[in-house]
Amino acid sequence: ALERTFSIVKPDATKRNLTGAIVAKFEAAGLRVVASKRIQLTLAQAQQFYGVHSERPFFGELCEFMISEPIVVQVLEGENAIAKNREVMGATNPAEAAEGTIRKEFALSIGENSVHGSDAPETAAEEIAFFFSGLELVG
Ligand code: CMP
Repeated sequence: ALERTFSIVKPDATKRNLTGAIVAKFEAAGLRVVASKRIQLTLAQAQQFYGVHSERPFFGELCEFMISEPIVVQVLEGENAIAKNREVMGATNPAEAAEGTIRKEFALSIGENSVHGSDAPETAAEEIAFFFSGLELVG
């Protein structure tokens, strides 16, 4: 089915000018960028976005990292966009990511792993609504 998913180019990647290289991989896989903006999160916004992880030992480190530099938030659209986006990203831990994936090629560590992508349709809808209004989505 035609789906939309939410994607973040994380601080480690924007800092190294990898935004274009990362988006090129999504586009090559058939995902269309239907919304995109470069922003810098506040700590409160990062804590809210990653609220599901608030009890994890890495929560503080994760939020500090996500506000350390600008990020690029995007909505990607395509057939099976959620699974396709996750396939192109590769495993969360770059040491476990498959050849050719974004995290294999670009990620520095499990924390500084270059990209985020929604894990399910419900989270995709929530994450898109957190950052974008309907008017900003141009299919
Ligand atoms: P993301 O998809 O953005 O969702 C939660 C993030 O937590 C995940 O990507 C990782 O970057 C990060 N994360 C997971 N495990 C660890 C860890 N052990 N240390 C630091 N960050 C982590």
